Amino acid sequence: MLFIALATFITIVMLCEWFVCSKRLFANSTIYKYTYLTASFLVGYMPIIAILTAANPIENQALTTWAILLVITNLLVKIPLVIYLIFHKKYKKHSVIAKVSYIMYVTLLLLSVAYGASIGRNDIQVNFVTIKSNKIPKSFDGYKIAQFSDTHIGNIVLSNDIFKRLADSINKYNVDLIAQTGDLVNMTHKELNPQIISKLKRLKSKDGVVAVLGNHDLGFYVPSKDMAKEIFDSIRVYQREKLGWRLLENQNFFVHRGGDSIAISGVTYPKNLNHNNINSYFGGSNIEQALRGVNDSVFTVMASHTPSLFDSLAAKPVDLMLSGHVHAMQLKIGKWSPSKFLFEKYSGLYNDGDRQLYVNDGFGFVFYPFRMGAKPEITIFSLKSSN
Ligand SMILES: [Fe+2]
Repeated sequence: MLFIALATFITIVMLCEWFVCSKRLFANSTIYKYTYLTASFLVGYMPIIAILTAANPIENQALTTWAILLVITNLLVKIPLVIYLIFHKKYKKHSVIAKVSYIMYVTLLLLSVAYGASIGRNDIQVNFVTIKSNKIPKSFDGYKIAQFSDTHIGNIVLSNDIFKRLADSINKYNVDLIAQTGDLVNMTHKELNPQIISKLKRLKSKDGVVAVLGNHDLGFYVPSKDMAKEIFDSIRVYQREKLGWRLLENQNFFVHRGGDSIAISGVTYPKNLNHNNINSYFGGSNIEQALRGVNDSVFTVMASHTPSLFDSLAAKPVDLMLSGHVHAMQLKIGKWSPSKFLFEKYSGLYNDGDRQLYVNDGFGFVFYPFRMGAKPEITIFSLKSSN
């Protein structure tokens, strides 16, 4: 019912805008009228196409996605219209230039959305990072860790073939360890259907796959506590038993090569960022517990969904933190991303003395089926001893 009401609303908004534009802006030109109508309808209805073709349509999430896109699209379309109307009154000779720039603007907007919703969100980017430390034993020289993050499986639309490509892309590099740093699902464990599981089970590495829980894996975004609890319990079982991953909930283990070892730790999402009041069963992050038995002489990698925990690591024996969560807000122009206004550390490698943080841009998407500049990322870390 809500879906039909919103569909009617978006149609009315689009028709009103078209009426205003064609009357005031494109009074004498049929081609401008219909170009505008087509462009605004395609941009406006992109979220509906995404919802209808979703691998796991989930009503609440889909409607949120749609509503946000509706607002963004309408704002973007209205801004140049207002600018044009202001200039048109004072400088009539500019009207042709204004019309052309307006059409170009709408076309550019349409092309950007179409690119981000099709090629941009499917074009896997593999980044390579070398981590040097005198704590890395010689026997771990060249040890490779692949990281992927924020798959948000339920939001993937059109094809789940991207998970086969994810696994094949990682397997190509013959890595020692794979780290999945949270938000595997978007809303519920049910997104991990047999097809997706079979694709993720293709992942191969010598020391297995380690994982941590992100906010979307914890049942934060469902209406009832019972549902949240079922998701929280099931996602852990699914990752351990169906996928065979080593899910680290404030835990660690050691990897050995000959007589040497490094520590791999994983910390759960912080309780103070809990959006659904599920405190009764959700323990949250515990860095001390995640590092129990690890001393400062051992090179230690910590997986944490949110990079915000990096600031709590002072005097803790962590050398490299692997995070995700930010997605670079799915928009990067060169190295710039709007996420810089919300997150101090939002994409790529950061140094704090000998300690390093890597924020992976994530693989799937939230809010809108779109990625531009911030491509779905796989990071391959190579450890190098600086002894
Ligand atoms: Fe995420």
